[in-house]
Amino acid sequence: MGHWELVIFLVSLVALISFTIILMNLPSFLWLWKIAAWSMGLSLLAYLMLAITGVWMFRARTSQQFSFITPFMGGNKGVRSLHYTMGISMVSLVLLLLAIGIVGTLGHFGSLGHSSHLIAGLIVVALVLLSAFSATQISARRSWARPLHIGVNIILFVGFAWVSLTGWIVVQKYLP
Ligand code: HEM
Ligand code: HEM
Repeated sequence: MGHWELVIFLVSLVALISFTIILMNLPSFLWLWKIAAWSMGLSLLAYLMLAITGVWMFRARTSQQFSFITPFMGGNKGVRSLHYTMGISMVSLVLLLLAIGIVGTLGHFGSLGHSSHLIAGLIVVALVLLSAFSATQISARRSWARPLHIGVNIILFVGFAWVSLTGWIVVQKYLP
């Protein structure tokens, strides 16, 4: 692992541990928000792995010396399909979070839109779907798809931070 992968790895590890701590502080009715916190931890883990495998693919494409990948990843095909699998997992988790958020809020208040967490959540869902769509368009003929994919994913990092922060704030209302 290079420098940046290590930095991303450590930051995400801290985020994951924080979510576990948050989780352990949630009393019982909060099972729904517990699932939210776990799914978020897993989403961040998926994002971390996508960033690492994405950087690997980028390096393999742009530099000559990428032989370090081949021994333990089964070559570029392995990295690519790992990236794809993690991508699908992340999309599923974020859609699950959207469903939990809407069902939980409707169940509790009977209406939506109680904080900026709603807009944060919708923006994250939109970004994740745009990322997945642009990924399916990546090819030699469509030169816009790869920069779009990478750009959207960088913005997504900020989106994840925002939705986590606002989620953590609204979950306080449910704590006794
Ligand atoms: C939403 C789910 C995602 C899917 C389905 C997905 C899928 C893909 C696919 C199919 C490619 C093209 C691989 C190739 O050139 O053969 C790709 C490239 C890439 N992805 Fe993703 N990806 C996702 C999320 C992410 C995330 C969250 C990141 C970063 C945090 C990321 C970073 C990258 C990078 C940097 C590349 C470019 C590799 C290169 O330049 O060769 N991806 N992705
Ligand atoms: C990608 C991640 C997430 C998405 C897309 C998402 C989406 C949503 C949406 C759309 C709502 C309805 C908000 C409203 O109508 O006011 C909601 C509510 C809620 N979400 Fe999330 N959420 C995410 C992450 C989280 C996290 C990490 C937590 C923390 C455990 C969380 C806790 C909550 C709570 C407690 C509510 C109820 C809001 C309230 O009482 O005002 N969410 N979520």
